[in-house]
Amino acid sequence: LDPLASDHLEGTHDYLRISVTERCNLRCLYCMPEEGISLSPNRELLTTPEIVLLSTLFVAQGVTKIRLTGGEPTVRHDIVPLMQQIGHLRAHGLRELCLTTNGLSLHRKLDAMVEAGLTGVNLSLDTLDPWQFQIMTRRNGFSAVRKSIDRILEMNRAGAGVKLKINCVVMRGLNDREILPFVEMTKDEDIEVRFIEYMPFDGNKWSEGKMFSYQEMLDVIRLKYPELRRETGHKNDTSKTYHIPSFAGRIGFITSMTHNFCGTCNRLRITSDGNLKVCLFGNAEVSLRDILRKVNSGEPIDEEALGAMKEVAMGKANLLDSAGQPAPLLAANSDELLQV
Ligand code: GTP
Ligand code: 5AD
Ligand code: SF4
Repeated sequence: LDPLASDHLEGTHDYLRISVTERCNLRCLYCMPEEGISLSPNRELLTTPEIVLLSTLFVAQGVTKIRLTGGEPTVRHDIVPLMQQIGHLRAHGLRELCLTTNGLSLHRKLDAMVEAGLTGVNLSLDTLDPWQFQIMTRRNGFSAVRKSIDRILEMNRAGAGVKLKINCVVMRGLNDREILPFVEMTKDEDIEVRFIEYMPFDGNKWSEGKMFSYQEMLDVIRLKYPELRRETGHKNDTSKTYHIPSFAGRIGFITSMTHNFCGTCNRLRITSDGNLKVCLFGNAEVSLRDILRKVNSGEPIDEEALGAMKEVAMGKANLLDSAGQPAPLLAANSDELLQV
């Protein structure tokens, strides 16, 4: 096996999302209950060396894009050193290193992250009104989030080249009146504003009535901007992109509820406790953490773990070799890569 060969993922699952923490400093209505969620004990969570090792192995298998997510990734105390280590993988095939964040404390860490190789930020912001922000996130912090956005734009004017997307979950009766102000953010700045259909998650009290659909959003925008144009998408986009011809930025829609896009999804996911998942909604998971820790302690890997891994990989992720063993992933000699 050549650890740097890039065809192991058959060009399909080349985008890895890693959740680096379950914790969050906001309590968005659509995501978390007021009291937060119950947190896993630390020993169950991936350590920083484990995240770096997994990133290294996946880049060796052909992953070219890594996104760090949460919870809120910036609340992990060593997020910057973690990014610096993952950033070194740019020399080995990693092309994009991205972050999904609520932006609350990003402005404090942004410069160091860009230095480490950050290429894209997806920033969650559902309202442009500080009072409404307090209602939707159950916390204060609107001005801190604005500060992060402004700093990204400022760094980009100086040539940083950080791709900025704003994720806005639209909820009927809460922020649906703000669609046009968000669209107008794309007038002068090279930002992509993405409107997301509100999705049901465990315990978020979803109801169809609160969901504002892609079609309704389009109708609102077209009424004021009939010139709105669809752009041709990229192969693995989960969002549909549009733009208004005279505007600098773009507008996207994530239509999880009304238009399924699973067929083109190229995402692999690692949860903060180290489970590999192919699908956001799928139940198949396998613990890479347990496999790593067993290998580290010299224990043999049991059949059950292998079976589970096979099920998750299901020929999609192609993480198994032709004999059905997880050899490429686990045998990749990462020492050389880790020293970079
Ligand atoms: P880029 O394509 O790199 O911009 O990233 P992304 O859109 O995958 O990342 P982000 O973390 O910004 O996620 C945006 C939204 O897409 C969130 O609401 C996710 O829940 C949703 N999402 C991400 N991947 C999937 C998926 O595979 N299926 C579905 N249904 N939703 C997804
Ligand atoms: N429905 C739609 N989007 C959601 N997000 C979190 N919970 C939901 C939900 N129930 C969004 C966040 C963030 C992105 C990663 O997922 O706003 O931008
Ligand atoms: Fe959930 Fe993100 Fe809001 Fe935190 S900022 S509560 S993780 S949607």
